[in-house]
Amino acid sequence: MSRATTVFTCSQCGRREAKWLGHCPDCGAWDSFVEEALTEVTPRGRARSGKAQGGGGSAPAPLRLAAVASSATERFSTGIDELDRVLGGGIVPGSLVLVGGEPGIGKSTLLLQVLDKVAGAGRSTLLVCGEESAAQVKMRAERVCAASDDIAVLAETQLETVIESVAAAHPALVVVDSVQTLYSDGFTSAPGSVSQVREAAGAFLRLAKATGTVVILIGHVTKEGAIAGPRVLEHMVDTTLQFEGDRHRFYRTLRATKNRFGSTDELGIFEMTGSGLVPVADPSRLFLDGAGPSAGAVVHIAVEGTRCFPVEVQALVSRSEMAVPRRVTNGFDRNRLAMIIAVLTRHARLPLSSHDVFVTIAGGIRIDEPAADLAVALAIASAECDVPLSPRVAVFGEISLTGRLRPCSQSERRVGEATRVGFARVVAPVSGAAAQGDQRVSGADDLRAAMALAFDPTPARRGHIAASDDKGV
Ligand code: TYD
Ligand code: MG
Repeated sequence: MSRATTVFTCSQCGRREAKWLGHCPDCGAWDSFVEEALTEVTPRGRARSGKAQGGGGSAPAPLRLAAVASSATERFSTGIDELDRVLGGGIVPGSLVLVGGEPGIGKSTLLLQVLDKVAGAGRSTLLVCGEESAAQVKMRAERVCAASDDIAVLAETQLETVIESVAAAHPALVVVDSVQTLYSDGFTSAPGSVSQVREAAGAFLRLAKATGTVVILIGHVTKEGAIAGPRVLEHMVDTTLQFEGDRHRFYRTLRATKNRFGSTDELGIFEMTGSGLVPVADPSRLFLDGAGPSAGAVVHIAVEGTRCFPVEVQALVSRSEMAVPRRVTNGFDRNRLAMIIAVLTRHARLPLSSHDVFVTIAGGIRIDEPAADLAVALAIASAECDVPLSPRVAVFGEISLTGRLRPCSQSERRVGEATRVGFARVVAPVSGAAAQGDQRVSGADDLRAAMALAFDPTPARRGHIAASDDKGV
């Protein structure tokens, strides 16, 4: 006899409990448990297994890898180079891709452009729009699309109906905008809740694998940056792409945080224009403001996947009014900043323990690589001493806890790119410089040496830096 059962599910991570909890023991979220009705699910696999063991013949036989057709050659292009690169060289048929990003960042626009290009290349496409009406999609398509007439639109949010329509249409690519608007009648909870979203993703996963249709799910992101509610989704999909950037600026970046078919190092850069998102092929001049040297601004030569480009790191240091000084970052890891401040305090004797420190990567981009340490450290030193770096100097290098500089990957490329965009000199870890044997590189083996090389060598200014060296410990 079946009885109505309800469970309590954490809307952040999907943990299930028999009773309501105020605090999720898994992900630490507060007040995240919601009650959901459990529907009876017949364990198909188990029901069949008895027969299969008896040699019923319906169970699939294992295959040798040699007998499996390789799908590597089957990838098709999204028509947008930046996106193809992030995906690992195009879309793999039958894959399930999740695109996450804050509201207003441009997910619907980007995916509409993808549908347009794929339709333009002669493949059948379908847009399931739960958030906007077909008329709204049409208005947007008129702005951003060339071949919009060929895109099929389905304005429906009932999951089973959507799956049925998609299976019947059998398109090469279906975009679901957004997965949080779909609901299945099998669950009592609201659209966007963990069970609904998981059910929808599961249904599309089965559809993608069974029919070879590529499914791209659009998902919203919470304030904390997780794909809203269900992190569970990230386990189910083949690829998770994060669309980031400052909504108030023009530039957007796209990264894979998970990719079963390619690397996760690649970075796609787009510019939001009046006619949709435009890929930025040469980002080198993007993130520099070109105003010349100013105290607190240092140019880092970044490498993201196969891209190499300069970014400006900006710092502001001011005496703190609080008992615990603030460390605020924008586009950079906060813990990494704390480490760099500790190294500056200890090894460069900068008196930062009672100062607020703010660090921003200009242009709204996020930089994760440790090679950005030196630029951050020099920006803070420059801000604290109110001395700009020498003109036309760029830097890169990882800082260790001992204050030494560690070599970074691809130093040669970074130096080449710096020269290409007009920097006269690069301050970098000594081993990178030795490999170069290069006039353009000033090699330093520790933070203090890098500071001596990077700052303007006029005596008055050097005096200021030296004076700050003698302060403190
Ligand atoms: P949208 O794709 O709707 O974002 P999301 O689906 O991630 O919520 O795009 C949102 C913003 O993009 C919107 O505020 C307006 C801007 N935009 C342009 O600047 N140019 C365009 O051509 C389009 C279509 C949108
Ligand atoms: Mg949208």
